[in-house]
Amino acid sequence: MMKGEWVRAHTNIALIKYWGKENEELIIPMNNSLSLTLDAFYTETRVIFDENLKVDELYLDNTIQDLAALEKVKTVLNIVREKAGITAKARVESYNHVPTAAGLASSASGLAALAGAASLAAGLDLSEKELSKLARRGSGSASRSIYGGFAEWQKGTDDDTSYAIPIDDANWDIGMLFIVVNDKKKDVSSREGMRRTVKTSPFYQGWLDTLDADLSAIKEAIDQQNIHEVGAIAERNALKMHATTLGANPPFTYWSPDSLRAMESVRDLREQGYSVHFTMDAGPNVKLICKQSQLAEIKAYLLRDFSESQLIEARPGPGLHVVSEFSK
Ligand code: DP6
Repeated sequence: MMKGEWVRAHTNIALIKYWGKENEELIIPMNNSLSLTLDAFYTETRVIFDENLKVDELYLDNTIQDLAALEKVKTVLNIVREKAGITAKARVESYNHVPTAAGLASSASGLAALAGAASLAAGLDLSEKELSKLARRGSGSASRSIYGGFAEWQKGTDDDTSYAIPIDDANWDIGMLFIVVNDKKKDVSSREGMRRTVKTSPFYQGWLDTLDADLSAIKEAIDQQNIHEVGAIAERNALKMHATTLGANPPFTYWSPDSLRAMESVRDLREQGYSVHFTMDAGPNVKLICKQSQLAEIKAYLLRDFSESQLIEARPGPGLHVVSEFSK
């Protein structure tokens, strides 16, 4: 039996989105993406390889998960077993730490924590680059959660060249505020959504065409710690990504009426003079990009339209690390 340590990975939110795969099996993306890792949401995971187990098992928040949930996990475990030359099945224990039961648990923190925990349990000593590649095979966005602060996933051309690198430690006045408008499971997963969009949306090429410009502009804005520009570029990038879904066949959108209400609130805040923009992922929740020092004021303003439990403050968070004391 090989019992690993507890490993923690924080979730990340993309400011320049990953949307579309060039290679479905290896998870090589169509475009580079850039994200901010956050303190507020994380996953803690431990892996035990045990010859007595007949199949791989995943316990999430003390509840055993079904085969569908195991799929991404098994991809990562199989790569680790191959690298380490072991055959034992694994018991994966994982806890998602999210402030409310708001459906915000992400595959990014989950698969990044698993990459770290499984490789440790197997006795592998992987570099951050190797961990990023391993996490990527489970879920693309997980490649970026190896790092704290801003990270860029460089698409590369094959398994060896597709991984994330750190860009900036985000140790400046930037924060995010989540407006949780829906906690139901999404109808179209990000995996299916991006697949359908690449295949059928005439707007997909338009999405790809402006990506390099968005990426270089946001890197310059990050360099200058220009919160207004970082937010403005991220908001435009997110809107372009979401526009591709309306052109897909069959068409779909991740927006709900409440998402639009949240966007209106952001525009109101801007009229009040706040530098605040939004981004959205494959679901209806809206994530605001603003000054960390103004999070409290902005939250207070939003309490006119949303309840306390819908508003979650987040600050830049750390990269993948071993946690010595685990209290569950
Ligand atoms: C909209 O990483 O969840 O959040 O690689 O298929 O597991 P798979 O997809 P996933 O996609 C995330 C998409 C996104 C944008 C982003 O995080 O960059």
